[in-house]
Amino acid sequence: MTIQKAQNITWHPGHVTREERAALLGQRPCCLWFTGLSACGKSTIAMALEQVLIQRGYVAYVLDGDNIRHGLNKNLGFSPEDRAENIRRIGEVAKLFVDAGLIVITSFISPYREDRDKVRALMHAGEFVEVFVDAPVEVCGARDPKGLYQKALRGEITNFTGVSPDAPYEEPLAPEIHLRTDQLPVDECVAKLLSYLEDNGYLLGGVRNVR
Ligand code: ADX
Repeated sequence: MTIQKAQNITWHPGHVTREERAALLGQRPCCLWFTGLSACGKSTIAMALEQVLIQRGYVAYVLDGDNIRHGLNKNLGFSPEDRAENIRRIGEVAKLFVDAGLIVITSFISPYREDRDKVRALMHAGEFVEVFVDAPVEVCGARDPKGLYQKALRGEITNFTGVSPDAPYEEPLAPEIHLRTDQLPVDECVAKLLSYLEDNGYLLGGVRNVR
């Protein structure tokens, strides 16, 4: 539990409802929470999905681990405590974006089940969609686009997820979507995500059709 430090603060409700914001955008807002090992394909699929959604008139936005660690979370490292705080902050940011009416795509390793479940609990039913971006650690290690697996194996990085014994990855037990990126190419992963959004009523015509 994060302690509420500030006292004497008051919640101010606005005059616009979340339903009004969502209706304006022609979509049902949600957070597609990608989780998986480094180099499993999270960022690649997230950016590709964001592009297709925007092209179709839906307001989507990616929050990406490496990018957020350059700014908002630049004071956090990779200890379990810092990862928990990383995910807590992003969960709160994602919740605000969903409240604003967006389809948020988050791309963080988010290795701990408890941290992911806490984010799910922050949101309304149906808003948190867990996406397990799944490739075996051997496949991720062979891809190694940033050379981090090699560094971890040489002992130059500690706490490296999936390699260091002190940095495990806890697989989702019941993700809404499971993408095997060692078997499916990026465009098929994107197609699967779009089908899920369509089949579950998240895509309601988009901004271009709401006049
Ligand atoms: S998380 O575990 O807290 O969710 P996050 O997704 O923000 O991690 O950041 C992971 C990215 O940081 C990786 O894709 C990789 O580029 C980089 N990185 C640097 N050091 C580590 C490490 N020790 N473990 C995992 N990723 C690391």
